[in-house]
Amino acid sequence: MNVDIGNALSSVASPGVSRDSLERLDEQVAAAHERIETGMANEEHGYEALNLPERTDPEEIRAAVEPVADAEALLTIGIGGSSLGAATITNALDSDTETVFLDNVDPAWISRHLESLPLEGTAINVVSRSGTTAETLANFLVVREAFESAGVDWTERTIVTTGESGPLRDLANRHDLPSLKVPDGVPGRFSALSAVGMVAAAVCGHDLEALLSGAAAERETLSGSLFDCPAYAYGATTYALDQRGAGVNAVMPYAESLETYAEWFAQLWAESLGKDDLGQTPVRALGVTDQHSQLQLYRAGPRDKLVTFVTTAEGADRPIPDTDVEDLAYLGDATLGELLEAEFEATEASLAAAGRPNVRVELERVDEYELGGLLYGMEAACVLAGELYGVNTFEQPAVEWAKKATRGLLGGGEFEEANAVAEKTELR
Ligand code: PA5
Repeated sequence: MNVDIGNALSSVASPGVSRDSLERLDEQVAAAHERIETGMANEEHGYEALNLPERTDPEEIRAAVEPVADAEALLTIGIGGSSLGAATITNALDSDTETVFLDNVDPAWISRHLESLPLEGTAINVVSRSGTTAETLANFLVVREAFESAGVDWTERTIVTTGESGPLRDLANRHDLPSLKVPDGVPGRFSALSAVGMVAAAVCGHDLEALLSGAAAERETLSGSLFDCPAYAYGATTYALDQRGAGVNAVMPYAESLETYAEWFAQLWAESLGKDDLGQTPVRALGVTDQHSQLQLYRAGPRDKLVTFVTTAEGADRPIPDTDVEDLAYLGDATLGELLEAEFEATEASLAAAGRPNVRVELERVDEYELGGLLYGMEAACVLAGELYGVNTFEQPAVEWAKKATRGLLGGGEFEEANAVAEKTELR
């Protein structure tokens, strides 16, 4: 992953950050890097995620998915960090295995999927770190029943990834299901490069070693200066821009295959940094689609935004056929890839011309190696930004509050959060 921050400098953009300020900030980056390295060396909660390239064992994951390696379709049941990493990887890469991610509990949507999937050829991948998340457990129970009703033995087709104990671990033990453990010290949204994100990739036949080696290469770039480390350049620049008023970060990949990446990034940034009245609001966008919607706001709306482009140097291409309509001759000389590139260059230049900060994250291509580097690099960027903000990057009390309140409202425990919701509801 390469990061170009040229269009975020105050010589180009407002809000923007000057080279001098970045040099001053670099002293804090050096201190933060030391803290991060210590956390990694001591296997501290959260920092341990940055050790995953060396810790994750692809053989173990492949052995667990062996019984369903021939699946036509894969149903992943999980939510948040237990879904978005796997979805980012498998939605970015081609595979003969159809993938469906059940995170929401919208009954109509779940029923539609269950009616259209070939259940006898479908594998089930259930993921929950805590093993208690209501949405995941409920969806698993519904899916199990659908398999039973169709006369398909779900126990032969299910893999579980969860913590050492909890209701999901109990279910796995009771039915003797192949299971993997979520590594200790790795919060959900930082677990894409563990079994949490990689079981789905393994069933789809993706190259797990390449994912990890791309991540390991990015890990090698972590150093005490934002000027030598793309991940820290991104984390420090976004932090500095937020301090100067760019409280919104619109992430806009120029590749349809990376649309889910923007979703993954939004969770990582929001759930990790949104604390103590601080944090930058991530927005999901897609090039070129959002050139015809959100771009108007990005170029001419309030000066509170940074746009992060994600580009790829190589990719599949397709010529645009010739036509005898003179006004369309320019298209006949081009390919769709060239058009995509021109659209990106025009958008980037248009934002820079309007003095709107933007950063370019460049990948060589969309493959396992580059994806591993991107996921790892952005996790490291987020950890660095968390150090600079001074927040606890690895906790998510607001998310936990709502999880407990939901369970409490359904009678799953005596939670004061549920009482607070009940009181509010009565007030209405
Ligand atoms: O990042 C996080 O901690 C959350 O988004 C969790 O991944 C999400 O709430 C799902 O939790 P669990 O894996 O315990 O089911």
